[in-house]
Amino acid sequence: MRQKVLITRKIFDEVIGMVKQHFEVEDNQNDVPFSPWELIQRLQDKVGAIVLLTDRIDDALLSRCPELKIVSNVAVGYNNIDVQACNRRRIMVTNTPGVLDDTTADFTWALLLAAARRLVEADQYLRSSKWSGWKLMEFLGYDVHHKVLGICGLGRIGKGVAQRAKGFDIQILYTDLIRGTPSVEKELGARFVDKKTLLTESDFVTLHVPLGPQTTHYISMAELALMKPTAILINTSRGPVVDEKALIQVLKEGKIAGAGLDVYEGEPEVGLTLLQMKNVVLAPHIASASRETRLRMATMAAENLVVGLTGKRPPNLVNEEVFQS
Ligand code: DGY
Repeated sequence: MRQKVLITRKIFDEVIGMVKQHFEVEDNQNDVPFSPWELIQRLQDKVGAIVLLTDRIDDALLSRCPELKIVSNVAVGYNNIDVQACNRRRIMVTNTPGVLDDTTADFTWALLLAAARRLVEADQYLRSSKWSGWKLMEFLGYDVHHKVLGICGLGRIGKGVAQRAKGFDIQILYTDLIRGTPSVEKELGARFVDKKTLLTESDFVTLHVPLGPQTTHYISMAELALMKPTAILINTSRGPVVDEKALIQVLKEGKIAGAGLDVYEGEPEVGLTLLQMKNVVLAPHIASASRETRLRMATMAAENLVVGLTGKRPPNLVNEEVFQS
């Protein structure tokens, strides 16, 4: 009998085909997240699962899925999975690091430029037939070149954002738990500063920290209050990294100039106030969404699952201790 695995959401057919070569596959072509209860029902007899970041893999679910040996997340972030609970049950957890860095860094710049130059607002204006001709004073945004870019988290994506800054002759500040090596700093032209200095001095602040207990509301009212009134905040990490209520308040009061957001605290819910704000560019969590990258992510997740279930160490194992034990 072939082992059974679940693919919780729609992914590329060729990737499903890859998995089908090894296992009996149940997939979800409806592409609507299963409810927690349905997910339990479908996972109960499965040895492995390829899941998306919309699937909550918590202790309650794991306790009802005794066959499960591996959870393969199609994302680099794995805050949707209770890794400690997986450790207790010796369930491997894998993610997809590396393959989405450039695509996410590209998109960070897309958000930054769109927010600074009011691109979405201008597009909507033109489409609604309001444009009557060139005006000197219309849609005045902010220059990006020769400004100061503050990067919170100089990991792979943060570095990608810094590399792309070169053509803009921008000054780069960064902050992180661990300072980069002198050669990294030199190559990127990035200066290490504390968080407070970064927030006070930057014209654009971009967030690239993983979500965890220490980074929940990493940017809240106290941090926003330090930013320049002309500053723009970009978030392509995870929604709860920013206290959204506080952000809305400072945007309303003009205490910062704007924001470019790809992620939200309660996604897919986005509050009406945010939806109505002109000084915010909003995207539906698509920073890694290029065809090439999403295919690479799904392929990588499938490889992690197949390797893990054949008793070898999956290449992108998050919880090493499970494999060793
Ligand atoms: C991730 O991988 O964590 C992103 O949020 C989706 O690409």
